[in-house]
Amino acid sequence: MCGIVGYLGGRNSLDIILNGLKRLEYRGYDSAGIAIYNGDTIASCKSKGKISKLEKSLSKRKNLKGGLGIGHTRWATHGEPNNVNAHPQFSNSNKLCLVHNGIIENYSTIKQKLVKEGFTFKSETDTEVLVNLIEYVKTKEDVKLGEAVQIALNQAIGAYAIAVIDNDKPDEIVVAKLGSPLCIGVGDDEYFIGSDVTPFIEYTKNVVYLEDGELAIIRNHKETFYRKIVDDKIISPTVSRLELSLDKIEKKGFDHYMLKEIYEQPKAIEDTLRGRLNISKGIIKLSGVDDYINKFLSANKITIIACGTSWHSALVAEYMFEKIARIPVEVEYASEFRYRDPVVDKNDIIIAISQSGETADTLAAIKLAKSKGAFVYGICNVVGSSIARESDTGSYTHAGPEIGVASTKAFTTQMTVLYLIAVKLSKSKGIISEKIFQKYIYEISKIGDYVHKTLAKNNKIKKIAKEFKKSKNCLYLGRGYNFPIALEGALKLKEISYIHAEGYPAAEMKHGPIALIDKDMPTIVIATNKINYDKIVSNIQEIKSRKGKIVAIVSEGDKEVKKIADHVIEVPDSVESITPFITVIPLQLLSYHIAVLLGKDVDQPRNLAKSVTVE
Ligand code: AGP
Repeated sequence: MCGIVGYLGGRNSLDIILNGLKRLEYRGYDSAGIAIYNGDTIASCKSKGKISKLEKSLSKRKNLKGGLGIGHTRWATHGEPNNVNAHPQFSNSNKLCLVHNGIIENYSTIKQKLVKEGFTFKSETDTEVLVNLIEYVKTKEDVKLGEAVQIALNQAIGAYAIAVIDNDKPDEIVVAKLGSPLCIGVGDDEYFIGSDVTPFIEYTKNVVYLEDGELAIIRNHKETFYRKIVDDKIISPTVSRLELSLDKIEKKGFDHYMLKEIYEQPKAIEDTLRGRLNISKGIIKLSGVDDYINKFLSANKITIIACGTSWHSALVAEYMFEKIARIPVEVEYASEFRYRDPVVDKNDIIIAISQSGETADTLAAIKLAKSKGAFVYGICNVVGSSIARESDTGSYTHAGPEIGVASTKAFTTQMTVLYLIAVKLSKSKGIISEKIFQKYIYEISKIGDYVHKTLAKNNKIKKIAKEFKKSKNCLYLGRGYNFPIALEGALKLKEISYIHAEGYPAAEMKHGPIALIDKDMPTIVIATNKINYDKIVSNIQEIKSRKGKIVAIVSEGDKEVKKIADHVIEVPDSVESITPFITVIPLQLLSYHIAVLLGKDVDQPRNLAKSVTVE
């Protein structure tokens, strides 16, 4: 998962590309680079590390000026992060220059062939192989850049979103896509390229989402050709109108995107419910479900596939669907599902959850399920993303752009959509009465308020973070609906503070993890459960008796746990099935404050990227 940016038009492309890369930095930040045709040649500047490092190098360069340019921010797949492996990558003649997001799986075979043809390589990247393959084809077949790219890509196996420019044809960009995202911003006599739309939303609202297997040759002054890579078929793409605005992707006074996005959750949940939950009429409207209600009601089972945090929202959904709608649900890691030849057929429904809509394992799992006849319902946050387009139908979470690598508002809005589906199906199946249905609707309408009230505990949570920032390990425990929240809390802490943390069902602790408990092992316990409250109190006592430190998330007015826990965070009381929306908030804030206290890079943690578009 890297970020690519390009520009062709009358402005100086440097600032457009640099700002565009900053907006895509969440996709990868091991190294970055820019190449611009400056009227004489393609000049480039690359640097290891984040875009701020590239910006420093650029300030010393005066020759990167021109209306044609490409840029790249990298999450390394082949070759360690350094200047040589940074993109853009040049061909041997230095005439062709390319940026790439994805993996060319057969690059070593192609490289061997090119070495035999006399090509040499400076970097360890698959990308340098690709740009030299294009050069080899262009020379050997004596064709233009667009054709050479097409021929070369038909020899490549893997995933790519690329932008290529040619020193001898400085009024053209060629872009192509397979398996990694690529958008074209269509301006007035100018074109923008981006891995998503954020690099160019202030310049144009007109966007073409390139489809898999498509290539575009973009020439100055409107000449643009879109065609299929495989058979050269000319296509006329759909130009979509963007709703996104610039202020949606700015920090707006918060120190980090993650904190902003934690605080945006009440609004994100409200936006996700808008048009779907009608309190006055007492209805839930989800076109993706309404149009296929019989499929849902007659399905053998529902399998939910996802990765990471999205997989945790799938686990919460399992409790919702089985408890509320009495529908059997299986939850699978997409990366496991896709390789185990699952028993799936036309009577199955697959729900695929993905914030980015570009996670390679989830996309591949969807394609496998569809090949077996299953019906796929996608829940994504990025409009027009690959998973959204690959799904048979679905619902968007309207969380707005989530820039922080650690997912927060996407998680709670995913659970919001899943909760709506569970309650809607329960009513359609006649499992719940109209009266109970209305009670669920009322509770759903209050989720945003519950979250808002819980955010008010931020200062207390910040104080608790001070006591645990030096911990080397941390245990998270929860039961029922809150077991997945324990997993999510542990993931949040791991991925931004680099403290090892594990989530466990509370009852499982005595089957091994309790051996970890001592005075240096803090345990975060979610103790709001009504059904198993007394059991979770016993779990806390078991920990206390072994000198473990306890931070407990409890319902307002709790008396029992307060007596035994070291720290208590009181959250609004609600029905059981709503508690996950509430209990995750303190865990998000706790991980955020610990990471900040440790001086970690909260929005761009080491080794991670926002969208894992490689396998
Ligand atoms: C969550 O905080 C992580 N950044 C990561 O686990 C993420 O949830 C996972 O990569 C799935 O991403 P997706 O929702 O975009 O598919």
